[in-house]
Amino acid sequence: MFAYQQDGRYFAQAARGLEELARIELAELGGRDVEISGSGVQFLADAAGLCRVNHRSRLVSRVLAPLAAFSCFSEQALYDAARAIEWEKVLAPERTFAVFAHVGESRITHSHYAALRLKDAVADRFRERSGRRPDVDTEHPDAWIHLSVRDDRAVVSLDTSGGSLHRRGYRQQSVAAPLQETLAAAIVRLSGWQGERPLVDPFCGSGTLLAEAFMHFCRVPSAFKRNKFGFEALPDFDPRIWEEVRREGEAMTRELPEGLIRGSDLDRQSVAAARANLREIPGTRGVAVERKDFRELPGIPGATIVCNPPYGVRVGEAQGARLLFKEFGDFLKRRCQGSTAYVLCGNLELAAAIGLKPARRFVLFNGPIECRLLKIEIY
Ligand SMILES: C[S@@+](CC[C@H](N)C(=O)[O-])C[C@H]1O[C@@H](n2cnc3c(N)ncnc32)[C@H](O)[C@@H]1O
Repeated sequence: MFAYQQDGRYFAQAARGLEELARIELAELGGRDVEISGSGVQFLADAAGLCRVNHRSRLVSRVLAPLAAFSCFSEQALYDAARAIEWEKVLAPERTFAVFAHVGESRITHSHYAALRLKDAVADRFRERSGRRPDVDTEHPDAWIHLSVRDDRAVVSLDTSGGSLHRRGYRQQSVAAPLQETLAAAIVRLSGWQGERPLVDPFCGSGTLLAEAFMHFCRVPSAFKRNKFGFEALPDFDPRIWEEVRREGEAMTRELPEGLIRGSDLDRQSVAAARANLREIPGTRGVAVERKDFRELPGIPGATIVCNPPYGVRVGEAQGARLLFKEFGDFLKRRCQGSTAYVLCGNLELAAAIGLKPARRFVLFNGPIECRLLKIEIY
């Protein structure tokens, strides 16, 4: 039942729809035996590989190191199995920890209570063995313990990322419906854009697609702003290996040519948010953001266009969204010759309203909303 995680096998969580892209990315970052499994990707890595994935993956939400997996029909069963884990091998009593639980389709129904039982099991085991126990710190713990219970099966893991990796740290100002950073990175990746022509977002909101496109082109490690990772609390953490990986990632960065990435938005606050967020990333001075209704733009010819116009579920209402998609389709047709547009739509009806036949449709999820990313070639 108890398997102390020492074979270097990790589980990278990815948002629905991003599993295959994450699999490819993890292999590029040096993961071995990478395979999709449930809502994520399993892979093997050594210490450097684990640091590299956490530092550089743009698509993965967090990387878990599984400690134990067991059948779990009751809170008592959870407590007993969790207490049997050799916590003293992974956590020192002078460290702090926190438990984050996700429970679904199981006899245990309350995530909060499940987390409390697991926390008690850790504390009781330490108290019984050494009289000293690590404190709980839910804000900035050293060790992030992750509990997942699905179909009455529990998996207890250490979160080597130390909180979700989509929180890059550059988003200081938000707008009504910002894209999650990992989803924006996936859209940039699906576009295949490598800087050979300008990339433009005419509905840039808080600038997430612009920021992710910048970090992609300039090879800025996605977690460059994160100052503490969960892997730093692992018993075999070697700061020299991490320092080497960090330096290797930082040494790869390159400058952005002037005018290569630009965005615009109708809304004054969105433009201010996009500029403020981009300022959080060094080297983005060349990313221009202007306040403009797309209908007033002279055109965007010969570019890669990436955007998620408001689609009426989370911003505005459906009728207006249909008209806006129709007008945007007309704009693409008339004023964007030679461009390829990647447009995220909240539903199929809107995808039709754009009035252009997509060359491809990708299924992606924006939180719970099933979306289509339309690839439209404009001749
Ligand atoms: C769903 S949000 C985009 C969110 C953005 N991707 C982000 O991550 O923050 C849609 C944006 O379209 C903008 N918008 C709506 N109508 C517009 C128009 N006619 N021209 C330009 N921008 C418009 C809104 O102000 C809003 O910021």
